[in-house]
Amino acid sequence: MTHFAPDFAAPASPPWSSEQDETLRCVHIRQETHDVKTFVLAADNPRSFRYLPGQFVTFELEIDGAKINRCYTLSSTPTRPDLVSITVKRVPGGPVSNWLHDHLRVGMALPAMGPSGEFSCFKVPAAKSYLFMSGGSGVTPLMSMTRALHDLGSDADIVFVHCARSPADILFHEELTLMARNMPQLRLAMVCEQHTPGSNYAGHLGRMDAARLAHIAPDFLQRDVYTCGPAPFMGAVRTLLDKAGFDMLRYREESFSFESLAPATPDNTDILKTETTPSYQIQLQKMGQTFSCRSDQPILQAAAAAGLRLPFSCSSGACGTCKTKKISGQVEIKHAGGIRQREIDQGWILPCCSKPLSDITLDK
Ligand SMILES: Cc1cc2nc3c(=O)[nH]c(=O)nc-3n(C[C@H](O)[C@H](O)[C@H](O)COP(=O)(O)OP(=O)(O)OC[C@H]3O[C@@H](n4cnc5c(N)ncnc54)[C@H](O)[C@@H]3O)c2cc1C
Ligand code: FES
Repeated sequence: MTHFAPDFAAPASPPWSSEQDETLRCVHIRQETHDVKTFVLAADNPRSFRYLPGQFVTFELEIDGAKINRCYTLSSTPTRPDLVSITVKRVPGGPVSNWLHDHLRVGMALPAMGPSGEFSCFKVPAAKSYLFMSGGSGVTPLMSMTRALHDLGSDADIVFVHCARSPADILFHEELTLMARNMPQLRLAMVCEQHTPGSNYAGHLGRMDAARLAHIAPDFLQRDVYTCGPAPFMGAVRTLLDKAGFDMLRYREESFSFESLAPATPDNTDILKTETTPSYQIQLQKMGQTFSCRSDQPILQAAAAAGLRLPFSCSSGACGTCKTKKISGQVEIKHAGGIRQREIDQGWILPCCSKPLSDITLDK
C-alpha cells in the first residue's frame, strides 16, 4: 500500500505562489454522494499550500484535443497545508466535471493555477456572528471556512445552512456534525427539497424561504451572510434578505455559474458612445463570426451583445476560464491574476477584461 508521505521532520516547504506553474497530483479520491467526488491533491514539488479558505484554483485540461479551463474551490483548509482538495459535482453533459469523475485517477497530474478569489470570511475583520447559506456543491467554500475556523479553535457563532435536493445529496453531513460537537457555537440546519425513500432524515423539508430562515436563525438580520450555490438559490436568498431589510453591505456571495454576465443591451449612453468612441472588428476565426467592439468595452461583453456565447465564469479577469489565443491585433488587458505574463507574451488574452486597441483575430 502506498500513500502520500511528506517529510514532517524537514524544514517547511516553500509557499504556494499564484505566479508559478503548479502541477497537482491526485493522491486520493472520495465518493461523497452519488454524483459528487472529492479529489485530494498534492504538489509535485512539495509546497506549503497557503490560501484563504473559500478561494479557488483554475485547472487547465486538455479534453478531446481542446484546452479547457475550469475553476474549483478548495474544499480543504489551509490549516492542513500539505494537501488540497476539490469537491466536484457531476454536471450532466458538462465536459470537465464528467472527465474528472470518469478519468482522473490517483497518480494523475493536473496543471493548476491559483489560488484566486475574494470570497472568504478571513478576508475581512472577523464578524460577531455568521450565517453560511450553501446550496448543493456551493457548500465547498463554506466548508473550507468552517474547517479552518474549527482547526483554529474559533468560538465564532455560526449558523450553517445546507440546502440539497434530497437527503442523499447532502454533502459533508457527518464531518459537519462532528465539527459542531467540537464547536458549541456552530449550529447546523439541513433543508431538503424532497425526501429520499428509506432515509432517516429528520431535517427541514421544502424550499428555503423567509419563514424557514427566521425559524432556523431568528437573529439572521444581525449576522454576516456568506452564500454560495446555484444562481436561483442565491437569487432567492438575496431577495428574502433584501425584503427582510437586511443590510446588504454584510452580504457576500460566490457564483459558480456561467450565466452571470448580462449581455450588454444598448441604451442611450451606449448609442452616444458608439458614435464618439472608436470601434474595432473582432474576428472569431474558427467560428467564422465577426462583431464590432468599442475601444472602451471588454471583448466578452461585445460578443454577448452580438449574441455570441464565449466561455467565461468570473468575468473579472480572475479565473482564466475565458483565456483565448490572439492571432493578431493589440489589446489593453487589466486582469486580476487569471493569466500569467508569460502567457500574455505568448499572445493569450482574457476577453472578459481585454479592450481592443486595433482589429483583432482570435483563435476561436
Ligand atoms: C469560482 C468558481 C468556483 C467553483 N467551484 C466549484 C466547486 O467547488 N465544485 C463544483 O462542482 N463546481 C465548481 N465550480 C463550477 C466548475 O467550474 C464547472 O463549471 C463545473 O464543474 C461544470 O463544468 P463542466 O465543464 O462539466 O460543465 P460546463 O459546460 O461548464 O457547465 C454546464 C452547465 O452547468 C452549470 N453548472 C456549473 N457548475 C455547476 C454546479 N456545480 N452545479 C450545477 N450546475 C452547474 C453551468 O452554469 C452550465 O450551465 C466553480 C466555478 C467557479 C467559477
Ligand atoms: S471569465 Fe474569468 S478570467 Fe475571464
